[in-house]
Amino acid sequence: MNQAHLDDLFAFIRFPSVSTLPDRKDDVLNCANWLKAKLAAVGLASEVHPTAGHPIVLARNKHVPGRRTVMIYGHYDVQPVDPLNEWTSLPFEPTVRDGVIYARGSTDNKGQILAHVLGVGDTIREKGDLPVNLIFLIEGEEEIGSKHLEAFLQANREALKCDLIAISDTGMIARQTPTFSYGLRGIAAMEVRAFGPSSDLHSGIYGGAVANPATAIARLVASLHDVNGHVAVEGFYDNVTPLQDWEREAWSRLPFTDDDLRAVTGAKELFGEKGYTSMERVWARPTAEVNGIWGGFQGVGSKTVLPREAFVKLTFRLVPDQTPAEILGKVRAHLLKHCPPGIQLEIKDGHGGEPYATDPHSEYGKAAQRALAKAFPGKELALIREGGSIPIVNTFKKVLGVETLLLGLALPDCRAHAPDENFPIENFEAGIRLNRALLEELA
Ligand code: BES
Ligand code: MN
Repeated sequence: MNQAHLDDLFAFIRFPSVSTLPDRKDDVLNCANWLKAKLAAVGLASEVHPTAGHPIVLARNKHVPGRRTVMIYGHYDVQPVDPLNEWTSLPFEPTVRDGVIYARGSTDNKGQILAHVLGVGDTIREKGDLPVNLIFLIEGEEEIGSKHLEAFLQANREALKCDLIAISDTGMIARQTPTFSYGLRGIAAMEVRAFGPSSDLHSGIYGGAVANPATAIARLVASLHDVNGHVAVEGFYDNVTPLQDWEREAWSRLPFTDDDLRAVTGAKELFGEKGYTSMERVWARPTAEVNGIWGGFQGVGSKTVLPREAFVKLTFRLVPDQTPAEILGKVRAHLLKHCPPGIQLEIKDGHGGEPYATDPHSEYGKAAQRALAKAFPGKELALIREGGSIPIVNTFKKVLGVETLLLGLALPDCRAHAPDENFPIENFEAGIRLNRALLEELA
């Protein structure tokens, strides 16, 4: 591995650019400024655009009429690191063990987006220019729903005009298996507060006569699914596009089994919606998930309290043609209908992103697959959808009118969003090769 490239990635990772934490605002900004300087150093004109949230970094080469214009999108923000004590080495001090870089952001998304930046730099250094007109758009709010990016796209439609978009922020089905993703799930977030009495109460003096908000939250959460793992919200599946036969057939032959899934997750037994395989459940079916749930006494030991409030953070993963607004509305109605007596609810809608699907056999899709084949010579290609979300992708289609190619480099055991997130150096190198191959194929 080129040591200078590795040093660049380590410098990028050392910024604790956690977008959701207000205390990290300056770290996020410093990271954006570093990225702008790196993009300039590889030979691009680069800028940092402030937004009402975190800044957007843009860069471009000199555009020549008649060439294709390609946008490469990525994000420099990362997820929080907690639980910190479950990390083997410090999250913002990149550490290499057995050829694998361990750090928050190593896979999601600093390693993957920097591979494109460095690939572009290598090509410019060797050939003097790129074969396409290029735009880098690298944002700092992907992990919190890309709140300010849509307005930026609207306001800069002309400057961002392109023929297509490429992203490396998705997964590879297995090591050394080039993977083209033709779909993403969407997402809709919601936070619910259940409250009743005006203060915490003695659970002996009042328990039994006053409804407990923590019990109410538990009942509401339990009401979201039936015993077969179907989501029990009325109308939830109304707009779900069924899986196609060719997908089911192709996915059944992928080199990732339920044994692999158990190994990678540590779950002894798998569970999910009846009638679907694990990959179908993750890639093509919508879900309801609890991301956090709390209320009452959390300290050591026992405290006999009837808490005055309790909370749950929910997200729903969506598939074509569900929309965040539709689902949040249906869930709200469901929660209000199932709210136990004596409890009031405060329901706050959170961020949302639409699902995405593109044709893997389009002209650009085929070019992307040729590029993957070049970057991983002799390896069989996998065509998949993804369970994760990149909220802006469907907005790109709506506002800029272009399709997005998803060429991911994250491995199933990359531990994105979790302790010991990691990225193999071999994937970083593959990403740099992939950038070159991709721009050549798209040109
Ligand atoms: N890179 C991921 C999305 C992803 C991961 C797609 C793996 C496919 C496979 C992205 O950074 C991410 O985590 N997005 C969030 C978005 C949300 C917070 C709005 C997600 O999916 O939870
Ligand atoms: Mn992520």
